[in-house]
Amino acid sequence: MKLGRNDPCWCGSGQKYKKCHCEFDEKLEELKERGYTVPDTKLIKTKTQIEGIKESAKINIAVLDYVGEHIKAGISTEEINGWVDSLTRKLGGIPAPLNYEGFPKSVCTSLNDQVCHGIPDENTILKDGDIINVDVSTIYKGYFSDSSRMFCIGNVSEDKKRLVETARESLQKGLDAVKPFAPLGDMSAAINDFVKSRGYTVVREIGGHGCGIEFHEEPWVGYTIPSGTGMIMAPGMCFTIEPMINMGKADIVQDDENGWTIYTEDGSPSAQWEIQILVTETGAEIISY
Ligand code: MF3
Ligand code: CO
Repeated sequence: MKLGRNDPCWCGSGQKYKKCHCEFDEKLEELKERGYTVPDTKLIKTKTQIEGIKESAKINIAVLDYVGEHIKAGISTEEINGWVDSLTRKLGGIPAPLNYEGFPKSVCTSLNDQVCHGIPDENTILKDGDIINVDVSTIYKGYFSDSSRMFCIGNVSEDKKRLVETARESLQKGLDAVKPFAPLGDMSAAINDFVKSRGYTVVREIGGHGCGIEFHEEPWVGYTIPSGTGMIMAPGMCFTIEPMINMGKADIVQDDENGWTIYTEDGSPSAQWEIQILVTETGAEIISY
């Protein structure tokens, strides 16, 4: 059904369509005719939804800040799980990973050669020289936030530090390429090119995702999508940028005992930082980090 120019806009702003998302829709229609994949209207967050997602992200950020202040050699990844679970709930949220498709814990803790989806347990004790990704996701009043950070435990080798720093810097390269109505692959290629220039590889099979109304929404955000291709990044879209960067080969293997944890196939270390962003009229706004 097509909206009339004087009808109220679909975004719920209360404004007339012609003064609100009419031009936006025309722009996407034109890009679609030129062969681009364009986002469905349901991926464009309304003002109310954006406010809700930001409230959720406040909890996510606070939880990661807490982890950053307390993580150290000698603690178990199970203890990190306890911190995340109790602080999230104390702040009024629900840890999104718990029971998500059967995931057994409230946070993912991925150590050294673990690429992602590491499962906290009391026998995994952090030690000097480890690098670890702590991936926190929160549901608050039905809104989802998702971000992760790397932590270096004690004295970490220069090699591993450089890997961790590269993963972090790659996010800025990606962010710089988020432009309204540009294709997602521009962002992916910016990250991949940078990572390659440092002599590392990006994991091909796992990526970011739309996030906000559901934990995982469209689009899937891979880092091997060629520039000039992929879904158009329209203002109001909310997704994560979370490249997994390997020191060695890009190939990964899944733990067949727990069905979750992903490792580098060659045993080399892997690093990942994750941010959740909102596409704006001028570029990107970081929602969770
Ligand atoms: N941030 C991770 C993701 O985007 C969280 C996974 S939670 C899990 O997929 F439950 F799926 F492990
Ligand atoms: Co994510």
